[in-house]
Amino acid sequence: MSTMQAVKLVDSEAAGSPELRRFEDIKPPEIFAELKHGVLGQDQALRFVSVAVYKHTTGRMPGNLLMIGNSGTGKTTVMNNIQRLYNEVPEYQPFRAVTIINANLLVDVDRMEFRPSRLLKAVEQRARSLAGHKPSPAALKHAIERATICVDEIDKMAAVVAGKPNAIGVVLQQGLLTLMEGEQLAYQVHAWVDGEEKEVTLDIDTGHMMFICGGAFEGLYDQVYNRVLKPGSGERLRTKTIRTAEGKVRMETYFSLATYLKPKDLFDFGMVPQFMARFESTVLLRDLGIDVLREILLKSFESPFVRTRRFFEVHDIELEIDDLAAALIAEAAAKDSRTGARALRPIFTDLINPYEFDPWHDDKLEARDDGGWRLTVSADMVRDVLK
Ligand SMILES: Nc1ncnc2c1ncn2[C@@H]1O[C@H](COP(=O)(O)OP(=O)(O)OP(=O)(O)O)[C@@H](O)[C@H]1O
Ligand SMILES: [Mg+2]
Repeated sequence: MSTMQAVKLVDSEAAGSPELRRFEDIKPPEIFAELKHGVLGQDQALRFVSVAVYKHTTGRMPGNLLMIGNSGTGKTTVMNNIQRLYNEVPEYQPFRAVTIINANLLVDVDRMEFRPSRLLKAVEQRARSLAGHKPSPAALKHAIERATICVDEIDKMAAVVAGKPNAIGVVLQQGLLTLMEGEQLAYQVHAWVDGEEKEVTLDIDTGHMMFICGGAFEGLYDQVYNRVLKPGSGERLRTKTIRTAEGKVRMETYFSLATYLKPKDLFDFGMVPQFMARFESTVLLRDLGIDVLREILLKSFESPFVRTRRFFEVHDIELEIDDLAAALIAEAAAKDSRTGARALRPIFTDLINPYEFDPWHDDKLEARDDGGWRLTVSADMVRDVLK
């Protein structure tokens, strides 16, 4: 029996299912497919995440990840979907203590101290919901040590912010790196021993936790671009061949962060080298093109369209959208490259709000055969709000 199964946890969901698979049998492609329901257009990044989850759940050393991507490309969405994955796959019950926290909450600025207690409290809270209502110390320890810790907005805790030294950033990075290396923490909890609730001290080994940090790293793109272009940098922009519509061929230079990013660029940005060394991989999220934005609008769980459709179901109104209407919204959202997929929401909300307020305010509702109603978002409706 592996250490993973050594402690029996109370598990209402899993208890009902006859046969749980071994963690080894839930392979990265299956993890990837599950994550992809909620994260679109980031397949490359999700492959890394899937492997990291596989390593974590099979008890190998966790593959800690650093995610870098522009605002609205899905970093926080990836974290939310890791949490959803652990909640939805019954076998992953022991790993459900997923905690997503902003980096700045892990430090006390006045005292210039790293404060892991806030993190552990959040983890403990999740662990308690797994370990039943009278958890033993062992069950709590088991759930806490298998936690996944997602630290968001990590770039705001760089050693340099807006050109000025940021000492608290160094404090945070050093504190986190110690946790990631595997620290023994004495942590006090209330747990049940011999039928009584007692205060006990758990020795928490953080070495099996998985850490996923993410940030937009604003300015990194320009920083690396300028380094590459600098005379004597020893690098040059790559070229690619473009074939125009008239069949002419020309060469174009192009730059992508993924091609040129070196560890040193992150150090220059203000990341502590020893902290960076604790990540198995750095994953870059792509900027989202029109096609992905359209898919996000139509399919992702959090999409304003999908949510509004659920809202209208309550009134027996089926919400639909024309292909062209969806494409126009995606195209308009893509123009605002600073906000990524976030740009979909205001456009859609402006358009749909009058119908949420009063679906019958104009004559767009059609009667369905079964007595309900149908509202179809048309290209004209989109053009009206975009004016
Ligand atoms: N790849 C994606 N797949 C599905 N939805 C996405 C994706 N990227 C962004 N979204 C949607 O856009 C919104 C913002 O995304 P998210 O919060 O993940 O951005 P972020 O990368 O964390 O940005 P920031 O750096 O500003 O925090 C969310 O509502 C999410 O549903
Ligand atoms: Mg975010």
